[in-house]
Amino acid sequence: VAVLSRPDLPMPVGAPPLSWRDRLLGARDGLLARPQFQRFVARWPGLRPIARRRAADLFDLCAGFIYSQVLLACVRLRLFDHLASGPRTRDELASLLQLAPERLDLLLEAACGLGLVQRRSRGRWGLGARGAALRGNAGLAAMIEHHALVYADLADPVALLRGAPGGALNRYWPYATAAKPASLGDDAVAPYTALMAASQPMIAAQVIDFYPLQRHRCLLDIGGGDGAFLSAAAAAAPQLRGVLFDLPAVADRASARFRAERLSHRAVAIGGDFFTDRLPEGADLVTLVRIIHDHDDARVLALLRNIRRSMAPGATLLVVEPLAQSAAESGAVGAYFAFYLMAMGSGRPRSFAQLATLLENAGFARIALHKAAMPLLASLVTAQPGP
Ligand SMILES: C[S@@+](CC[C@H](N)C(=O)[O-])C[C@H]1O[C@@H](n2cnc3c(N)ncnc32)[C@H](O)[C@@H]1O
Repeated sequence: VAVLSRPDLPMPVGAPPLSWRDRLLGARDGLLARPQFQRFVARWPGLRPIARRRAADLFDLCAGFIYSQVLLACVRLRLFDHLASGPRTRDELASLLQLAPERLDLLLEAACGLGLVQRRSRGRWGLGARGAALRGNAGLAAMIEHHALVYADLADPVALLRGAPGGALNRYWPYATAAKPASLGDDAVAPYTALMAASQPMIAAQVIDFYPLQRHRCLLDIGGGDGAFLSAAAAAAPQLRGVLFDLPAVADRASARFRAERLSHRAVAIGGDFFTDRLPEGADLVTLVRIIHDHDDARVLALLRNIRRSMAPGATLLVVEPLAQSAAESGAVGAYFAFYLMAMGSGRPRSFAQLATLLENAGFARIALHKAAMPLLASLVTAQPGP
């Protein structure tokens, strides 16, 4: 009671009174910030494990950038690939990675602490559980490399929050703020299209494993990139025909993929601007994979209305992207997408409720959130044209 009644937080004159929850949390904050309390908890045997866990959590938060850079070094040096066929000695690794043995030790110890590699018999090193999961995942490796741009933009997070003009990410995703995205050339779209194609298998798996594609005959993939998703869907559902719509330079890349994969008899790519151009009609499944979070509400509404106009009654819209709602499971995921998109210059992660409101306002009904294996990668939301 003594703690609760202490005026820990000076209240501005005229501010609404604090609730009991606010007061309790204020008391907790005051207690946690006191060095005497921290020392007391750390000394008390029953409380020590909690103190250690909390301290380790805080340490992780402070050291996160170093962890990411250790991971980047492992990816760049292809350490996981070198360990794929089995454990190797320090000398073997030093020569493969072209590192001085003492520097290699430093990397291996750090990577070991992060679960990326593991000590094995006779002084050899093998993959750790995390390293094993990363090995062979070209999409994740590409994303890890790509983060160099993200970190460049986040070097001064306060400047970014105060609205500093777009930097590396804004240039990397030129459609986000381009006045005429349809006139972007191949050189402007090639880097992000390759990154999307590399990371697409993880996303396509979420759809193929959790959505009944075999119920449909024609899939229109809007903003479908170079066709990696459509190609995976066509392989999983042999009855499916596909139409892809993306910016002209990207659609050209998709056509090239369909030709190379001998899919041209089942899939076509059409170029245009999905905000302003008429969209192809006749599909009974329309997909938006990692599209909506790129854009602000007004643009999303324009896009959804355009899609709604092209859809026949009974057709299904399937939205596939990570939702802010799943950030409740891991707050870090929400923080990641929010800061990433802020640096990119448009869009935001949305909760299911926020997405559903936009869908409703664009004339969709029967809006449903479906189970997905990895909401951190993507959730699945379906909707149908309303009356
Ligand atoms: C984040 S990528 C997602 C690509 C693909 N769906 C995937 O998940 O791999 C967004 C895609 O939307 C396309 N796009 C952006 N603005 C567009 C516009 N105004 N009209 C047509 N496509 C657009 C981009 O070219 C890009 O291929």
